[in-house]
Amino acid sequence: MVDGMGRLQGRVAVVTGAASGIGFACAQRFAEEGAVVAGIDLNTSGEWSGIEKSAPGSQFFVVDVRDGEATRAAVAEVRDAHGRIDILVTAAGVAGGGPVHMISEEDWRTVQDINLTGTFLSVKAVLPAMMEQRSGSIITVASVEGLEAAEGGSTYNASKGGVVLLTKNLAMDYGRLSIRANCICPGFIDTPLFRSVMGNEVFDEERERIRHQHKLDRFGQPEEIAGAAFFLASDDSSFVTGQALAVDGGFTAGHSVGVVEKLGLV
Ligand SMILES: NC(=O)c1ccc[n+]([C@@H]2O[C@H](COP(=O)([O-])OP(=O)(O)OC[C@H]3O[C@@H](n4cnc5c(N)ncnc54)[C@H](O)[C@@H]3O)[C@@H](O)[C@H]2O)c1
Repeated sequence: MVDGMGRLQGRVAVVTGAASGIGFACAQRFAEEGAVVAGIDLNTSGEWSGIEKSAPGSQFFVVDVRDGEATRAAVAEVRDAHGRIDILVTAAGVAGGGPVHMISEEDWRTVQDINLTGTFLSVKAVLPAMMEQRSGSIITVASVEGLEAAEGGSTYNASKGGVVLLTKNLAMDYGRLSIRANCICPGFIDTPLFRSVMGNEVFDEERERIRHQHKLDRFGQPEEIAGAAFFLASDDSSFVTGQALAVDGGFTAGHSVGVVEKLGLV
């Protein structure tokens, strides 16, 4: 985006999980559109210097989203520096899962703590600014696995289903203050998280089957999720709130049973 021409010029965005994958792509897109971006993540990212260069005032905070106090302190610093918080994207998250009898209580708690409680704490950190401004766009990141079950997905699916409903609750509770809340439910997106789970060759067959369940017959790219986040962050979505938007190449449109192939359509 040309200097001064961005659609998010003058906006201040907080993005969790900003060091990698979907969070990084959202931070990069917002910066290109003129926003000041505060990134929050456990890990630093070498690529962040690019964002700080293209969007002066942008900053990176090494914070665990399970730590409510540290998350609130980072957000307060951003608000002190820039006077407002307009956009939140909660992309910090981890994979997890397995049938219940195979999951330890500790693993269950870790996934809920990061994916669901981390989302709650991040939202809680930005709400005071948004409530005072009487404006804001909260964009949570759940998953197609927050909309429907998946074999062996219990821990992860439960956390993401929680994120979907938490988001709808936010839309109900804060809509009258002109704060919008929407949830993006990505299909399978080619990120380090995805590769850590599906990259293993023991999953070769499953990976192909899963790819094929995306009706576009491919996995998504982080930038394609960032495009949806940009829409939800911008005024183009000014009447959109309380929605769970699947950005999934048709994954949740229905089940592929092979008729398209049989009819020779592909
Ligand atoms: N990649 C996919 O296929 C896919 C599909 C659906 C939903 N999602 C969701 O999208 C989000 C981003 O995933 P991704 O694929 O970009 O993964 P990723 O691993 O590339 O990025 C996730 C980031 O979150 C950070 N993070 C993890 N725990 C944290 C914590 N406690 N505090 C702060 N930061 C923490 C990690 O350090 C990492 O940088 C996750 O919530 C994930 O569940 C991903």
